[in-house]
Amino acid sequence: MSIDSDDEDITGLSDIFVVSDAVEDYKYTFADDLTLTIKGQELQNQNIQPTTGLLPWPAASILGHYIAFNRKQFVDKTVLELGTGVGVCGLAVSKFARTTVMSDGEQSTFEQLELNIDNNKHLYMTRPTVVHLGWGNNSTLDTIKQSYGGNHFDIIIGSDLVYFDASIEPLFYTVNQLLSGEPGSSFYLSFLDRKNHLPTVERVSTHYKFNMTSVPISTFTKDTTVSTMAKMFIFTRQ
Ligand SMILES: C[S@@+](CC[C@H](N)C(=O)[O-])C[C@H]1O[C@@H](n2cnc3c(N)ncnc32)[C@H](O)[C@@H]1O
Repeated sequence: MSIDSDDEDITGLSDIFVVSDAVEDYKYTFADDLTLTIKGQELQNQNIQPTTGLLPWPAASILGHYIAFNRKQFVDKTVLELGTGVGVCGLAVSKFARTTVMSDGEQSTFEQLELNIDNNKHLYMTRPTVVHLGWGNNSTLDTIKQSYGGNHFDIIIGSDLVYFDASIEPLFYTVNQLLSGEPGSSFYLSFLDRKNHLPTVERVSTHYKFNMTSVPISTFTKDTTVSTMAKMFIFTRQ
């Protein structure tokens, strides 16, 4: 997903974060014992943003804390991450899951993502797989269904995927297509509610017949750097 001055109003992101081509280390510790180092583009105060997937976003640490604190929910599960970017949450969950599939619609993120997977081998027994998946894109959805079988995933995760109202419908379309129908199957989503996206999230998730449960951030992390706009939700099928 590229952002330039022409589509700035559509995405609404260039006024939130700006990056450069320089790469830096982002170090995370979740629940005291889950550590990872992610390389991603540097945040800068310049009005350029080649792609949003090339650096870790703030809501990634929220979902990372949630995963580490509630690790039993992920043990031995087949997990798909949507909009993985440079891979913070997929890597965190790979420590506990049986299978981890990390996806993004923007293939320019994949080179850095694969390097980050290489650099965090201490986390996983089975290396996460990287796949191309555009939300609502039936051809990439069909490829995943053929590779992994129907709506196969026990758990879908995503961080900072909600910042543009129009992408919320294809996001939930995709979750509905790929999340298992088995009891307990869940979509875990963290985001910063920067522009009052909650009403759209509620409407669209209800349309796809998901129950939406808010998880107070203070129940799983004492991280004081977490934004007051931070939200954490679990969606389960009605
Ligand atoms: C704000 S970034 C968040 C990245 C990562 N989850 C994190 O928290 O660090 C949004 C990610 O979603 C991906 N994305 C946005 N729209 C998408 C779409 N329609 N289909 C697939 N991926 C998409 C972008 O390429 C990017 O990697």
